[in-house]
Amino acid sequence: MHVELDGEDILLCNYRGKYYAVGYYCTHAFMPLEGGYLEDGCVGCPYHGAMFNLSDGSVAMPPANGGIRTYPVRVENDTVAVSATPSNDPD
Ligand code: FES
Repeated sequence: MHVELDGEDILLCNYRGKYYAVGYYCTHAFMPLEGGYLEDGCVGCPYHGAMFNLSDGSVAMPPANGGIRTYPVRVENDTVAVSATPSNDPD
């Protein structure tokens, strides 16, 4: 799902019971990653198939031009908390 937090567009994913927060836009043609697929620890872009590792945002499959941001996620009771400060800097 899309989350906007302090001006950051973030994609919040639940992959195999664990939450990940990553940049919302693919670095290939800057289309939303929302609606993509989760596979092998990656999020796949629904447009041209680029894949990004959920853990560090690195490119797992082209045609992406660079990695995406990742954001710290904390789960407490029934609340998922996401930090707007990225944990990496792929730019
Ligand atoms: S916009 Fe994501 S692979 Fe092209």
